[in-house]
Amino acid sequence: MLLNLAGQRKVLFLGGKGGVGKTVTASAVALHQAEAGRKVLLVSTDPAHNLGHLWEQSVGDDQVELFRSGDGVVHGVEIDPQRTIDAYLAEVGVTLRDFMPEHLHPQVDQHLKLAAQTPGTHESAMLERMAATIEYGLDEHDFLIFDTAPSGHTARLMALPEIMTFWTEGLLNRRTKAEKFGAAIRALDNHDDPQSASGESRDRRIRQMLLRRKNRFEMMRNVLTDAKLTSFVIVLIPERVPVLETVELYADLRETGVDVGGFVVNRLSPTDAGDFLASRRVQEDHHVQSLRAELPRVPIDTVPLLATDLVGRDALRQLAQQLS
Ligand SMILES: Nc1ncnc2c1ncn2[C@@H]1O[C@H](COP(=O)(O)OP(=O)(O)O)[C@@H](O)[C@H]1O
Ligand SMILES: [Mg+2]
Repeated sequence: MLLNLAGQRKVLFLGGKGGVGKTVTASAVALHQAEAGRKVLLVSTDPAHNLGHLWEQSVGDDQVELFRSGDGVVHGVEIDPQRTIDAYLAEVGVTLRDFMPEHLHPQVDQHLKLAAQTPGTHESAMLERMAATIEYGLDEHDFLIFDTAPSGHTARLMALPEIMTFWTEGLLNRRTKAEKFGAAIRALDNHDDPQSASGESRDRRIRQMLLRRKNRFEMMRNVLTDAKLTSFVIVLIPERVPVLETVELYADLRETGVDVGGFVVNRLSPTDAGDFLASRRVQEDHHVQSLRAELPRVPIDTVPLLATDLVGRDALRQLAQQLS
């Protein structure tokens, strides 16, 4: 399922709990696609980044080349929420300070410092970066694969573009009214007051900023909910609670209109390495069956527990082979 799906889509998200194998699976798919000649951007949005360890080179907030062969290439980026937040708050800060008289600027700074620590700031900054990555990533690349943060967080992120579009829409409407009102006042008032001219250009600037964000979130939402373009794959291990959580995550994603292309059940125990593991495997097969029974139309790939550490390109090729 997974390798075919990757070949047919431009954007793929891999989600699931921490430690289940999202990063290794995303990397294996990225390498496989590049070896088929595609230009791939591998994006980690999990604050617990580990692309660097896996590819044995340092990866950071600016994209780096991880692999190249013929036409195919893998670029990697680990989105750094802190850097994103700093840039984001700097932009908001300029706008806010513009709004406020000079003597209130220390309060603006204090406000921004607090805002930097709230979870909402973190999420919307991350979302903005993911939207920008989708917007510009497809200029240079044929395929974007997102190695995402553990599930709850990602499901919320998937729903967020809609909320943000709605929110910016509301602000824009309110501003349109305020602008009309402001224009009427200025028409009555003295025309050559420099204050009102700068007020007008400030309004325009804020409006442009809101409009830019609204368009970007709208674009992201369109991409996320276009099943021909984008799919989401849930990675899990074959245990009872992960199966239940996968069913829930599936429902959440479907509700936000995101296509779920399949499940990857990772780390199946071997049947031929002793009684202990063999009896575990009986349990695991049972959990895979219950997932199949619950969502019979969703394809499932299974991947065995491998004997070696998954580090480096050869290990990733080996993993891709298990997926095919
Ligand atoms: N099929 C597998 N066989 C052996 N080790 C695996 C397998 N899948 C994942 N691992 C190992 O499990 C750990 C967690 O995988 P990782 O991809 O980092 O998970 P996640 O990104 O979901 O947190 C890594 O050390 C990885 O090498
Ligand atoms: Mg990971």
